[in-house]
Amino acid sequence: MTDTDSIKHVASPLARQTLLDGDLTRPVAGRRPIRLLPWLQVVKIGGRSIMDRGAEAILPIVDEIRKLLPEHRLLILTGAGIRARHLYGVGLDLGLPVGSLAPLAANEAGQNGHMLASLLAPEGVSYVEHPTIAKQLAIHLTAARAVVGSAFPPYHHYEFPISRIPSHRADTGAFLLADAYGAAGLTIVEDVDGVYTADPKGADGKKAKLIAETTAAELAKQKAPLPFDRALLEVMATARHIERVQVVNGLVPGRLTAALRGEHVGTIIHTSAKAE
Ligand SMILES: Nc1ncnc2c1ncn2[C@@H]1O[C@H](COP(=O)(O)OP(=O)(O)O)[C@@H](O)[C@H]1O
Ligand SMILES: [Mg+2]
Repeated sequence: MTDTDSIKHVASPLARQTLLDGDLTRPVAGRRPIRLLPWLQVVKIGGRSIMDRGAEAILPIVDEIRKLLPEHRLLILTGAGIRARHLYGVGLDLGLPVGSLAPLAANEAGQNGHMLASLLAPEGVSYVEHPTIAKQLAIHLTAARAVVGSAFPPYHHYEFPISRIPSHRADTGAFLLADAYGAAGLTIVEDVDGVYTADPKGADGKKAKLIAETTAAELAKQKAPLPFDRALLEVMATARHIERVQVVNGLVPGRLTAALRGEHVGTIIHTSAKAE
């Protein structure tokens, strides 16, 4: 038999099947993927809620993260804030498509990450780009207790044209990464105590009630605005590893530390991932 023949007859459970038939692929593809970095804690820091507030909000968080480093290995992901909003305004006025706006907004998330990483540099923390997060996170987190990156997913022109403003933003990006790595957890840091029944700073803010614990499916039914991308709820519905996410107030010292220790100090959102 020649080499070419043996390649043609290589045994593979999916060799003769269409990948479109779920009943045929399930026995092979239905199993849970392995956890690549089971010790990883992912922390998403809000652009508008934290970074835009400057030193007053950022320095206490940097202090808290510094103290957390001996306890956890962290992937710290920053979101975009006010500069991305200005950019969306100008870009939309110019008629730019969503796929052009996505990487521009992601740049701001990156800028925020660079600032945060600079402050943590004495601890060995650096900013890493998307390809490094995708391919060399393990080695970086073996050399340092934490790295910082942009929370935006690198969709560029692949961004779904569902709306003119990119729908997959920092919260979705952070969740996709945490789930893909089989991380120990994801904590979303905001400037409010968690998710409320309505925007606590909105017109009906006084009536808004804090939701201590809920599910992604319940939140999807809620029409009120949320302190994270709506697309996050969609990816939570198909999560493989991350069973819960906690949204915490980063302006209150100690909340992030408590959340990473597994304490309930904000809103816990259960995803559709099943416990192992
Ligand atoms: N249901 C809600 N629960 C809590 N906060 C909400 C809700 N809806 C809107 N918000 C607002 O979202 C703000 C955070 O804005 P967001 O755009 O998520 O910031 P960031 O860019 O930092 O993630 C909060 O300060 C709050 O006013
Ligand atoms: Mg947010």
